[in-house]
Amino acid sequence: MSRLIIVSNRVQQPVAEGAGNQGGLAVALSAALREHSGLWFGWSGDTTAHFTGEIDFQTNYGVTTATIDLEEQDIDEYYNGYANRTLWPLFHYRIDLAEFQRSFAGGYERVNARFADTLIPLIEPDDLLWIHDYHLIPLGRELRRRGCTNRIGFFLHTPWPAAGILRTLPSCRQLVESMFHYDVVGFQTPEWLSSFRYYVASQTEASVGADGWMTLENRTMRAIACPIGLDTASFVEASTAPVALEACERMRVSANGRAMIVGADRLDYSKGLPERFLGYEHFLATHPERHGKVFLLQIAPVSRDEVATYQDIHNTLDALAGRINGSFANIEWVPLRYVNQGHSREQLAGIYRAARVGLVTSLRDGMNLVAKEYVAAQDPEDPGVLILSRFAGASLQLKDAVLINPYSAEEIADAIERALSMPLAERKARWRKLMDSVEREDVIWWRKRFVEALSLPNETPKGNA
Ligand code: G6P
Repeated sequence: MSRLIIVSNRVQQPVAEGAGNQGGLAVALSAALREHSGLWFGWSGDTTAHFTGEIDFQTNYGVTTATIDLEEQDIDEYYNGYANRTLWPLFHYRIDLAEFQRSFAGGYERVNARFADTLIPLIEPDDLLWIHDYHLIPLGRELRRRGCTNRIGFFLHTPWPAAGILRTLPSCRQLVESMFHYDVVGFQTPEWLSSFRYYVASQTEASVGADGWMTLENRTMRAIACPIGLDTASFVEASTAPVALEACERMRVSANGRAMIVGADRLDYSKGLPERFLGYEHFLATHPERHGKVFLLQIAPVSRDEVATYQDIHNTLDALAGRINGSFANIEWVPLRYVNQGHSREQLAGIYRAARVGLVTSLRDGMNLVAKEYVAAQDPEDPGVLILSRFAGASLQLKDAVLINPYSAEEIADAIERALSMPLAERKARWRKLMDSVEREDVIWWRKRFVEALSLPNETPKGNA
């Protein structure tokens, strides 16, 4: 079996199998790395005065990680800049929030070259390379320029925008061309894949064949849709672990007989949090009979807080939360509990289990694993109802959720009322179908599909660029 090298901007140190506090992706990738006795390479999360390319190797629980420090300027231009002020808003359809600065594009290229320089000596001839997410799109090209002929795959965790949006990016053609240095490029949904295919077919000279094969200037690659799944078995286990059951019980006691609606998201404008609050406000305004009998718990840990648009959304939510509670609360009931504190995986699983409704209102989302987690955490005998945005990738698989358009406060309000009054038989029937999907298309299924596609040889081998 070939060794697997995974590359991502962030690297999570693995913890013992089954132990808590590790994100789902980290759990999944660690399992793959153990199987393939591989390596996980990326940024350490730390800065250094001058880039040295020195690699910190660590082996924990059978997984070796290799991390590098970056300079302050790299973080400003590459991470806070091009990744989070240019590509992230654009890939989430927010041209209005995207900033185009040449210094950001320069920093992005520089850091991708730095990743390539430090990674290249670690690569052995049979290794498979799997690069993750929008921070590292040009890394494949940089590796090819340094002579790498290994098979390299790329997976995008975010949406891929429609051509009309992508074309506002000054160097979009270069970005797309750089993707032809991979052997396989994976997208979360057929929608993002078709936006990519449309751009390639209409804006480049590439020939686009069946099954996602595309050729540009003698470089052939395959673009596929491969939705990421949940580490379902381990999440189900987490949701019945003592920490989870205790969190569930504490929530039930604190709910005091009131129905809980839960939302849990990074504090990000793509998650539709103001829209969620407005939908809930409309629900409260139009359902006085529910006052005192329901509350929304919104968990929203602060994210990327050096970026102004994230500070703005934080302020907007503070104001909306204050307005809603100011208008509707009484001395015995607070309709909205809004917390910025983060919680462990087990705690979250327990909180999801205690909630009658899970509310996901993303305006645009590559997948949204919270939706899948909410399903996996439910008690099969008394499951809650998932309300899910049609604009989250997950809605293509979770068709038995109550699907909504998050731009409509009325639709959100109607869906909340429908979920709260849904009879047990319907809740169980919907949950069973959702759970079947979450179990069948889990993270192991995703990883195996991608690695299998990556292991198939192309007609044209990749060489130096
Ligand atoms: C999204 C991205 C990931 C990223 C995560 C957290 O899920 O697709 O690549 O790691 O957000 O964001 P952060 O900027 O804190 O790494």
